Amino acid sequence: MALNGFLDIDLSVKNPAELGAFWERHGLRRTADGVYGTDQRPTVLNIKEGDHRHLSAMHFSTSHESDIAEIARRLEGLGVESRTSSTTLECTDPILGHSIRIDVGAPIPLKPTDARPANRPGDRNRYNNRNASLAPDRRPPRRLGHVVLASPDIEKSTAFYFDGLGFRVTDQFVGANGTFGRVETDHHNLLIHRSRVGYLNHYAIEVDDFDAIGENGAAVVADNPDSHIIGVGRHLLGSNLFWYLRDPSGNMFEFFADMDHINDDDDWAKNHSRTDWGAPSAPAPVQAWGDAPNEAFFAVPDLDEIAQARAKRGLA
Ligand SMILES: [Fe+2]
Repeated sequence: MALNGFLDIDLSVKNPAELGAFWERHGLRRTADGVYGTDQRPTVLNIKEGDHRHLSAMHFSTSHESDIAEIARRLEGLGVESRTSSTTLECTDPILGHSIRIDVGAPIPLKPTDARPANRPGDRNRYNNRNASLAPDRRPPRRLGHVVLASPDIEKSTAFYFDGLGFRVTDQFVGANGTFGRVETDHHNLLIHRSRVGYLNHYAIEVDDFDAIGENGAAVVADNPDSHIIGVGRHLLGSNLFWYLRDPSGNMFEFFADMDHINDDDDWAKNHSRTDWGAPSAPAPVQAWGDAPNEAFFAVPDLDEIAQARAKRGLA
């Protein structure tokens, strides 16, 4: 019927061993050569060598074999070539240049997070015990949730992901300058926004809850105090709790928890979705509370280097 899963990504970086070691220190396991995942999802990040840091592939699942032909037909209508078998479609993002692979299947279901007793005014449910989050062991990342991509041709990129691949729009900035979309029930598995140069703005890893963001974020900052960007806070669009950090390859990433989930598009469209976020009538700050975006959040220090590497490949 439609894409149903955002499974994993390939990250190309100058020093894959360094980035792999970073993620092994921060809760992923090396499950094969260049492949990092969790106990339940052996493939979350595929880390490869590249001449500059970039997203080099996105991997999705779709429900039925019939979807493959349907997606190929829609892509052909947009002038995007694809290669298909009965259960796989492969193509290239026409603007950003990374590979797209779609397999018939579904994401591996996650074991539910253990609910931790918490004390609230009038609702005390933890007596005679300390908070479970005082335990020294960190709860590791659970899954890849979304990526945010910057596009130098937002019209074509939006058409590719939404009209071609079949992402569903959940919220949009005024002038279609940025569109949030989903293939799972997450408010967004993708945000694509306008930019002079194409690049990966960030990748986002879901963790169990607020404390898990704190545990994991604090460990990354202890590893390298310069890795902190903004957080902890709660986003307006998606409602997720966030902490943004930088990995050793220079990519921004996010630990997030408690995002909005949508299983009724009509309800969301009628009661919540807007296509004019950022207009005077619909201000859309990044955060509902917490750190406002700073220079490190918006500026991309190596944008010129990325632009040069992309120009060599004929990409903007
Ligand atoms: Fe994010």
